[in-house]
Amino acid sequence: MQNQKTHDMTTRREFILRSSAAAAAGIIMPELLMGRPSASKKTGANEKIRVGLIGCRSMGWGDYIELFHFPQAECVALCDIDSKVLSDRAAELEKLTGKKPKVFSDYRKMLEDKDIDAVFIGTPDHWHCLMTCDACAAGKDVYVEKPLANSIAECDAMVSFATHYGRVVQVGQQQRSGLIWHEMKKYIDSGKLGRIAKVNVWANFSYASILRPVPDSNPPEGVDFDFWLGPAPARSFNTNRFHGLWRMFWDYGGGLVTDWGVHLLDMALWGMNATTMPRRILASGGNFAYPTNYAETFDTLSVLWEYDGFTIQWNNVAATELGPYDRAYGLEFIGTEGTLVANRESWVVIPKPGSGLEPASFRPDDLDRTNHVGNFLECIKTRTMNTACTVQNGSFCAKIAHLGNIAARTRSALVYDDIRHTFGNPEADRLIKPVYRKPWTFPEIL
Ligand SMILES: NC(=O)c1ccc[n+]([C@@H]2O[C@H](COP(=O)([O-])OP(=O)(O)OC[C@H]3O[C@@H](n4cnc5c(N)ncnc54)[C@H](O)[C@@H]3O)[C@@H](O)[C@H]2O)c1
Repeated sequence: MQNQKTHDMTTRREFILRSSAAAAAGIIMPELLMGRPSASKKTGANEKIRVGLIGCRSMGWGDYIELFHFPQAECVALCDIDSKVLSDRAAELEKLTGKKPKVFSDYRKMLEDKDIDAVFIGTPDHWHCLMTCDACAAGKDVYVEKPLANSIAECDAMVSFATHYGRVVQVGQQQRSGLIWHEMKKYIDSGKLGRIAKVNVWANFSYASILRPVPDSNPPEGVDFDFWLGPAPARSFNTNRFHGLWRMFWDYGGGLVTDWGVHLLDMALWGMNATTMPRRILASGGNFAYPTNYAETFDTLSVLWEYDGFTIQWNNVAATELGPYDRAYGLEFIGTEGTLVANRESWVVIPKPGSGLEPASFRPDDLDRTNHVGNFLECIKTRTMNTACTVQNGSFCAKIAHLGNIAARTRSALVYDDIRHTFGNPEADRLIKPVYRKPWTFPEIL
């Protein structure tokens, strides 16, 4: 690997080239072209890592205030396109730190700030790619929420940018840092379940998934809706597609299978040591439970990812809030000797009658705390790219979830060629990469 200095020198030219193209499209401020923003090189034990947050309303804020557990980090700047969210969070942050944070309505201005070493991204999914790629090019390390992106091609672009610019990226699949899941993995690796032929994964939540139609309206005062849409297609404002609810519309999110699914599918893939694309994807979905549902993504969805020697299956019937083993969400590894059932609260092994397998279970004392944010900071200090949930890992898992949606949306059995980036099916191929609305351009390393 190149050392940081060489890397900075070689990438400066590329950053300027890329920025020139972006500035021509009116995307990046001309000041950025004056020089490559200083890349984070925080390695001194006492040097603070100064962190900004883009997208402050819900999960982004939740992630960001985790930083208060870590004296090596400083929360210094906030960015949001909703001025009320921004001013409310700025006031909260000032109360917590005693200092006024810098505030931005345009994330590109935040990325120009040389005093910021890292950013947290808590915006809707359709923004993750552009913001992460721009942040990497601007020399910032990135904690980006899951799913990594809203399409397969965006996931690939983010891996390329993070790798090319040598940035530390942590994806917000915090289960990767959870004790319960590490204990589950240990148990599965012990082989006690016998041959695992199938993993079932499900999530039947009601949050955001069943929506009534409401008429389009003007955006609330202080909301820059055009900037909220960003690279997504132009449309008029509708409350039921906005804050929190966007995840059920294809232009911004992928429904339960990408929203909750990535957490659980990640555990299924990890448990099975799956690192490749499946051999085949079969899926079926629709708004079957609520035919008048205003949400576009499917309240009812089944996906089967076929691997060599096992299958992984996803099922959701949104809003039932029920599921197998009295768990509204979870996964089960079905082995020849017994079945392991898990969710965030606990896991339990149910032996097959007569197998001789001992029952086993695990329930952690502290359900909520993980060291996912701490791990990100440690990796920044040591310049280790191997975070608990790397950009490669986030990409792999999000792509698997998107494959399911694409198979269901096209009503096709699909095979995805991840080298040539094609399904060999024109309808499915059109869903691999979104067309960015001008002036936004799909990130490319020039
Ligand atoms: N890891 C987890 O457990 C977990 C849980 C919930 C949500 N999430 C993820 O967190 C992300 C945010 O979800 P949410 O529920 O907090 O969404 P939300 O709609 O509540 O908040 C998104 C925020 O981003 C802001 N925003 C949108 N476009 C912006 C832009 N161009 N520039 C600056 N700010 C912008 C919005 O104004 C809003 O304040 C999603 O990717 C979601 O999947 C992860």
